[in-house]
Amino acid sequence: MAKTNQWPGIHVLGAGSMGLMIAARLQAAASVVLLRRPGNWPASLQLQVQRNGATTRCRLTQYGSDTAPAPISHLILCTKSIDALAALESLDSRVADDAQLLLMQNGMGSQEAVVQHFPRARIAAASTTEGAYRTAPDRVVHAACGLTRIGSLNRGDFDWAGLFRDAGMEAGTVEDIRWHLADKLRVNVLINPLTALHGCLNGELLDRAELLADMQALGQEADAVLAAAGFRFGNTALEQASAVARSTANNRSSMLQDVTAGRRTELDDITGFLLELARRHGVPAPTHQAVYSRIQALTPAPAHHRTDAAP
Ligand code: PAF
Repeated sequence: MAKTNQWPGIHVLGAGSMGLMIAARLQAAASVVLLRRPGNWPASLQLQVQRNGATTRCRLTQYGSDTAPAPISHLILCTKSIDALAALESLDSRVADDAQLLLMQNGMGSQEAVVQHFPRARIAAASTTEGAYRTAPDRVVHAACGLTRIGSLNRGDFDWAGLFRDAGMEAGTVEDIRWHLADKLRVNVLINPLTALHGCLNGELLDRAELLADMQALGQEADAVLAAAGFRFGNTALEQASAVARSTANNRSSMLQDVTAGRRTELDDITGFLLELARRHGVPAPTHQAVYSRIQALTPAPAHHRTDAAP
């Protein structure tokens, strides 16, 4: 696909699997710069992207977040949720005050923190079913071509979905992105902690009676909490999460991958966020509390932010 002059230069912050995949794909439509954790990085990264069995090579311009030339006007944040705010702060004054930001984090909570800390930025968030994993620092597998839904959180008015579509990705603009984030949250609060605790693939949750019973208990509590918080869905959390577990049966969830690699997980923006809603609305969620404590015991304490550790 030919690059047009329609789109401004795009910066992608975070060189994890999602950041690399998105940076590589968007190059089909716009000039893209990859921003990594602070430091002196080689001026370009030779990246291999594997998709549908074919490997393509592309060259990405890259900078450390502390050396990137200013101003940055259009930025896609692809770090893990737990690193989002600190990673943005590491860009310091390089981000234009009224920049257009697109937040691609899992879970909920980190998005509102960014909105509060950058009140003049025009901010949108995305909920995506795209799947990618990194097999080496310069190799990414685009495992699942999904749909990316994008909506404004404050005054974000850039046509991010149009840019994604122009680059050949499936994307659409939605009115209420918070509802879509909550819809994905109710899947993540069922699948992620259980797969991480039991070291199993997503699909195994449906095959093992004791895990299905845990999913049921977590689902009932999640339904009650999200209803109390004002979210309405056409099916239960258990039905939604079961459908996703079936369609991603051979996936190792992101939380299982983090726990296995000894990395911090996004627990606080997934189960932690649900527990905060439960507390705020006075709804009991003892099963979520129990899995929260068990995962917390498995994972390392907070460290410095890492823009390379994206979802
Ligand atoms: O976090 C993940 O791994 C994914 O959101 C999902 C949907 C659970 C599939 O693995």
